[in-house]
Amino acid sequence: MNDKQAVAEYALNYIQNGMIIGLGTGSTANFFIEALAQRYQQENLQIKVVASSLVSQLKAQQLGMPIIAIEHIERLDIYVDGADEVAPDMTLLKGRGSDLVKEKLLVEAAEQFIVLIDPSKQVNRIGDNFPIPAEVLPFAWQLVQQKMHHAGAQVTLRKTDSGLAITSCGNLVLDLIFDSELSTIALNGLLNATPGIVEHGIFHALADIILLANKGEITKITSGK
Ligand code: 5RP
Repeated sequence: MNDKQAVAEYALNYIQNGMIIGLGTGSTANFFIEALAQRYQQENLQIKVVASSLVSQLKAQQLGMPIIAIEHIERLDIYVDGADEVAPDMTLLKGRGSDLVKEKLLVEAAEQFIVLIDPSKQVNRIGDNFPIPAEVLPFAWQLVQQKMHHAGAQVTLRKTDSGLAITSCGNLVLDLIFDSELSTIALNGLLNATPGIVEHGIFHALADIILLANKGEITKITSGK
């Protein structure tokens, strides 16, 4: 079993009967969805799930899980997802799956946000391994690009093999590489304050628990927030 699967299965320890559970997106989240579906069937759990993306929704549907739409929830008990980077202060970088708005909405709505990682996700500073994604309104991307250039960023409009990357909310994604003099807090503030950016990949002071799997051994990192 690889570390992504090991940590996903360990996260089942946080699941209780009756919970509304947010499902993340990505390969680690997929392992969690599979493990959760298995437990749901075996124990006949009375749970409901909310997906952060169409991909996760389809996966949960195929596995027979009871899905509720994001429009129909007021809160979640728990949201479980992976991350692309985790800094020592527990700030995360997310968004390779593009659906940043839904991911952050579910994080905010959840009593507990649990992040599943392996050592490859640990960085000294957000942006060390990946550009910072920003989900932008389609008509705003050039103005946002200009503002980010002025802030010293290299900006790339995200593409897929079949054309532009389009989120499930119909938005575009800009990938941003900033020079290392800007702190993560400053970047978070800049992106929060830029009109046209609907959401971005810096998740600052949002994670409650990080579960790190390293060669099968699980370490729990908590925020104390
Ligand atoms: C999707 C995400 C994912 O959690 C992140 O990309 C990690 O993916 P993986 O589990 O495949 O390594 O933020 O938007």
